[in-house]
Amino acid sequence: MNVRGCGAVVTGGGNGIGRAIAHRLAAAGARVVVNDIDPAAAEAVAAETGGWAVPADVATDDGVRHLIAAAREHAGEIETYCSNAGVAAGTGENSTEEMWQRSWDVNLMAHVRASRELIPGWLARGSGRFVVTASAAGLLTMLGTAPYSVTKHAAVGYAEWLAATYAHRGLRVHCICPQGVRTSMLAGSGRAGDVVLQEAAIEPRAVADALWDGMAGGRFLILPHREVAGYYALRAGDTDKWLQGMNRLQQRIEQS
Ligand SMILES: NC(=O)c1ccc[n+]([C@@H]2O[C@H](COP(=O)([O-])OP(=O)(O)OC[C@H]3O[C@@H](n4cnc5c(N)ncnc54)[C@H](O)[C@@H]3O)[C@@H](O)[C@H]2O)c1
Repeated sequence: MNVRGCGAVVTGGGNGIGRAIAHRLAAAGARVVVNDIDPAAAEAVAAETGGWAVPADVATDDGVRHLIAAAREHAGEIETYCSNAGVAAGTGENSTEEMWQRSWDVNLMAHVRASRELIPGWLARGSGRFVVTASAAGLLTMLGTAPYSVTKHAAVGYAEWLAATYAHRGLRVHCICPQGVRTSMLAGSGRAGDVVLQEAAIEPRAVADALWDGMAGGRFLILPHREVAGYYALRAGDTDKWLQGMNRLQQRIEQS
């Protein structure tokens, strides 16, 4: 797969998984635009990768439009857009309205708003690549955080819809669904993260490598933790058994 000279955008690229993806694409010769809501983080990774920083809040329509317009100025046509920024906010059903809305805007609507800007040009050219960083929480669930789990399910659903609708018109879609990854998000994930995710946590670089392999292999679903495929099959094949297992895990978290 050759991305040399191709324009690429990575949202939430100032830290963690996004930073690793920016490095992976830059190492392969892409012209990488690093977005983050934190300007200093975006600048730092842009300097590391020889790219451009475009700070913006991708939770807003204005932020996404500004990012894509600025990215086109810096890097030319955008061939690959990695919609990676995400937030883990809130806990259960009593999470505030603001937390539910923020989760919805960052974890789902950022993808919708970016694709709205990009798809007309990609369809006209007959090529484009949209990468959604969802989560295993979007295929299974993440105990301890309802807004995150629900909005990541929505992200997977939207990525599937894009792939099913536009594959024959040249759009390639990849949906990354890791479990624990050693980033600040995992560090802040509390008891549920400690019990469920820490043991098998991987480095951000392993996620970027899995994405690269999935891009080269033309795969939609990118599972940096292979065991997730088994859990996903169990959920579909015997949902009650899977839910019983998840509830046992919840009880372990409460006792920890
Ligand atoms: N860390 C994990 O265990 C894990 C597991 C599965 C999926 N994910 C997903 O991976 C993605 C990256 O998370 P991470 O673990 O690297 O977290 P991180 O906190 O290390 O990095 C996220 C980056 O996104 C930026 N960001 C947040 N909201 C933004 C916004 N509205 N606009 C622009 N930038 C914004 C942050 O400033 C931060 O730099 C997220 O979508 C997350 O849900 C993470």
